[in-house]
Amino acid sequence: MQGTGLLALLGVLAPVQALIRFGCSQLTVQRLDPLVNPGLVPSPHLHQIIGGNSFNVTMDPGSHDLPALSTCTTCQFSEDFSNYWTAVLFFRAKNGTFKRVPQIAQQGMEGTNGGMVVYYMSDALFDTAQKSKVTAFKPGFRMLVGDASITSRASARKYRQLSYTCMENQASRSPETISFPKTPCKLGIMANHRFPTCWDGKNVDSPNHQDHVTYPVTGSFESGGDCPSTHPVKIPQLMLETVWDTSAFNNQKDWPEDGGSAFFWSTGDGTGFSSHADYLFGWKGDSLQRAMDAHSYVTANMLKTQTIKEQNKCTVPDVVGEKFDGWLKALPGDNMITMKPTRFRA
Ligand SMILES: *[C@@H]1O[C@H](CO)[C@@H](O)[C@H](O)[C@H]1NC(C)=O
Ligand SMILES: *[C@@H]1O[C@H](CO)[C@@H](O)[C@H](O)[C@H]1NC(C)=O
Repeated sequence: MQGTGLLALLGVLAPVQALIRFGCSQLTVQRLDPLVNPGLVPSPHLHQIIGGNSFNVTMDPGSHDLPALSTCTTCQFSEDFSNYWTAVLFFRAKNGTFKRVPQIAQQGMEGTNGGMVVYYMSDALFDTAQKSKVTAFKPGFRMLVGDASITSRASARKYRQLSYTCMENQASRSPETISFPKTPCKLGIMANHRFPTCWDGKNVDSPNHQDHVTYPVTGSFESGGDCPSTHPVKIPQLMLETVWDTSAFNNQKDWPEDGGSAFFWSTGDGTGFSSHADYLFGWKGDSLQRAMDAHSYVTANMLKTQTIKEQNKCTVPDVVGEKFDGWLKALPGDNMITMKPTRFRA
């Protein structure tokens, strides 16, 4: 897809089965993780979170009903009270101090306060047919993709399709790398998180928040690969795009002299291999299933929407009370930094 604008492509495609794409502004940035570390204040590393405002320190799948407890959402589709989050990107200057990298809205969503773009797909993004039947997530469903403790390329390969795109402009979508880009990116670094697409059909969660879902047994989601018999139910491909605006940090004279990374996840990872994302399903009623069954692409007429102004108004209280803006001597949580001694290749 080199050189081809995704947005241009989306505009010329004929109406098809079901792919929805929408923006969600920032709900909050805090050291909280109700999936992996429920009840822990603060959690080990900083997250950036979008979605419904029932987001809290603890969100037990049995009792925390996201659509019922939320009064607003930061998402364009106002029936989506799910929560989605990733780690936060930091720049490390030559003098060893860190600064949080801001997030920017994508083209067509200008005015959105940070956040991410969310996709739910029946088939590969560029498959204009979107014919496959997918089963939407059940209430209480949650999952985690990636692993915050991974520091090697070999381990990172266990997760398919967690990647980065060095963005020249808003249309840049390739190439994708599984480590951080090693040269300055004019517009920013896009982090891509694609979740597994096969579900065991029974459990809304599992002890590691991963074993109840998996990848196709042959091929890939993109190639229409079959789900394994242990996880026979095809669920939508959930994908998150986060654009980290690195434009203020592109002068290589400011980058560390040791040749190591200038960018770090809030986990302390300077390689990019620890990329991970969390999902707590929270669509109201059967709204997601209806959208996935409908003849629509990118937009979904049957879904209620709200304005960017309304999206931006939805927030949650800061319960951690930690300073993470301006130049910091250490990452929030004093996370040790890890990186390769030499500049790693993409
Ligand atoms: C978060 O949970 C606490 C403790 O259960 C509760 O008091 C508070 O109202 C909740 N906050 C939100 C925003 O729901
Ligand atoms: C460290 O470097 C950054 C970027 O060059 C600069 O803005 C900041 O003031 C420096 N901090 C210290 C303590 O020197």
